[in-house]
Amino acid sequence: MPTSVNSAKPVILEIEGLVAGYSTVPILHGVDLDVREGEMVAVVGPNGAGKSTLLKAILGFLPVTEGRLSVNNWSALHRRPEELIAHGVGYLPQVGNVFPSLTVAENLRMGVYAAPKSFDSRCAAVLPLFPGLSVMLGRRAGVLSGGERTMLGLARALMSAPQILLLDEPSSGLAPKIVSQVWEKLVELRLSGIALLVVEQRAKDILALADRGAVLVGGRVVKAGPCQEWTLDEVGHLFLQHAS
Ligand SMILES: Nc1ncnc2c1ncn2[C@@H]1O[C@H](COP(=O)(O)OP(=O)(O)OP(=O)(O)O)[C@@H](O)[C@H]1O
Ligand SMILES: [Mg+2]
Repeated sequence: MPTSVNSAKPVILEIEGLVAGYSTVPILHGVDLDVREGEMVAVVGPNGAGKSTLLKAILGFLPVTEGRLSVNNWSALHRRPEELIAHGVGYLPQVGNVFPSLTVAENLRMGVYAAPKSFDSRCAAVLPLFPGLSVMLGRRAGVLSGGERTMLGLARALMSAPQILLLDEPSSGLAPKIVSQVWEKLVELRLSGIALLVVEQRAKDILALADRGAVLVGGRVVKAGPCQEWTLDEVGHLFLQHAS
């Protein structure tokens, strides 16, 4: 499944046969997926396919009942989210990606709450990537535009110096011009060596950007591999075929 360019790179995140869901209701039915160092992997699928559930299960927000999950060969099963973060996993949730009542600086501080002494050094590393945020550090996050919030969410997730970022629909609710800026930022992050696992509704855009893709329908990966050549027709057909 990996591309020839990336197949020699070490695997950062490895998922095998993952079964997970909410209380007794399984949503993911045996998901296999891996992400290598510096690689962007896209997960696309229709509403309700289990994309957000997959990211939450990786992070340890939901119980995993079967399967294997490792980060840099460390078993990440049945761990708390803060342990995943300490092991190099960053997360931008689909909903509530910033704390609206806190300032921009306070949001960034939340990104290093487990290692508060690293705040200054991490700000020095992260803020140059987000020049717009540097001039609004005292502003309450709740008054930021949608695009600024997304950038703040990304910056907050980067504060813990992750090796891999899990992003849940980073383009959600944004105007097309702002979406392009988000894509540019993801490409920049990948070039800096951070691996990205990106869940997206905008399948066409993200499949063109990513190294590899996975189509998730009904909690199962129905197609996976290098994705630049995948057509929207083909992917849309899979959404319908497997949903019915
Ligand atoms: N807290 C919850 N309790 C029970 N079921 C839930 C809960 N959250 C989500 N689900 C169900 O799990 C399934 C997968 O939801 P999930 O949010 O992972 O989908 P998704 O692929 O991210 O969809 P979308 O593209 O709309 O964000 C859906 O059927 C949803 O109703
Ligand atoms: Mg979702």
